[in-house]
Amino acid sequence: MTVIGSDLNEAARLLTAGQLVAIPTETVYGLAANALNPEAVLRIFEVKERPSFDPLIVHVNSIAALQEYASSVPHQAMALAQEFWPGPLTLVLPKKEIIPDLVTSGLPGVGLRMPAHPLALSLLRQLPFPLAAPSANPFGYISPTLPQHVYRQLQGKIPYILDGGPCTIGVESTIVGFEGDEVLVYRLGGLPFEHIQRIVPGAQLRLNASSNPAAPGMLLSHYAPRKPLLLGEIEKLLEMHPGRRTAVLSFRRDFSDIPGVSACEVLSPSGDLHEAAAHLFAAMRRLDEADLDLILAEPVPDTGIGRAVNDRLRRASAE
Ligand code: TXA
Ligand code: MG
Repeated sequence: MTVIGSDLNEAARLLTAGQLVAIPTETVYGLAANALNPEAVLRIFEVKERPSFDPLIVHVNSIAALQEYASSVPHQAMALAQEFWPGPLTLVLPKKEIIPDLVTSGLPGVGLRMPAHPLALSLLRQLPFPLAAPSANPFGYISPTLPQHVYRQLQGKIPYILDGGPCTIGVESTIVGFEGDEVLVYRLGGLPFEHIQRIVPGAQLRLNASSNPAAPGMLLSHYAPRKPLLLGEIEKLLEMHPGRRTAVLSFRRDFSDIPGVSACEVLSPSGDLHEAAAHLFAAMRRLDEADLDLILAEPVPDTGIGRAVNDRLRRASAE
């Protein structure tokens, strides 16, 4: 049986016993286990049906934890943590031995993040170990931004979902790695690339468009609904695909009165990119669960957090 509740002590008790608990973060819900307990971590891979080559992010409760779990911390990493932690930023750093190889899929680096959600932080501060947590969805599907999203897909498989309400950021953390003197953004996410460049002007994008041994989770087809999703200019797409039960996922314009459109989700009527990001995954899920054949989506302005929204839309539209 899976319980949804807000009892931190119960969550801590289960995690200490090696069980899995879904936890809220400001980005998406995570499926958490004691990161230092390989048997507990193995359960994450089983429940998510996640391939063992896809490493997990380790959630910590302080900047000081960097020294505890990373064998070296470049000055740019420290500067980024000081500016943006707690927050939607994951730093990939050489791991210390205490981090099990299972967590990093055998890679020499570990992804570390201090989340900003108050419940997640309280929980982490109560525990004597960090939490390994991927997004709490079956592998390849859309990440959950509500406890009910987790419940619908993982009920019966985990004992507890810690209810922290809707995720305020709505897309996963930005992942940054350090190779030699280079600072590389591997995944666009909740912390805009421009903010990273403000602290590290030389930071570069090195997005993993396809299966990449450095960060295998960034497969091109990811975060994907089960229905076909096409990305482009909505009116052109409608002309090209007539006669199907079609849904529209738009940035700010309401297409529901346009002939041929059965349903429309507007991400942000006022054109606010943060609001669009916060609504993205829940809107995608609603359309995926509705009685429709096809989802047509349009890109949002490609700036700030909008770049992460467009990245997720592209991955959702990939075969
Ligand atoms: O916002 C987030 O990051 C959420 C919340 C729960 O914190 N977590 C999340 O985890 O999105 P997940 O498992 O869905 O994505 C983790 C991705 C991996 O697929 C991989 O691309 C990258 O993070 N990653 C993790 N550890 C890594 C490592 N040691 N080296 C390279 N990439 C790593
Ligand atoms: Mg994920």
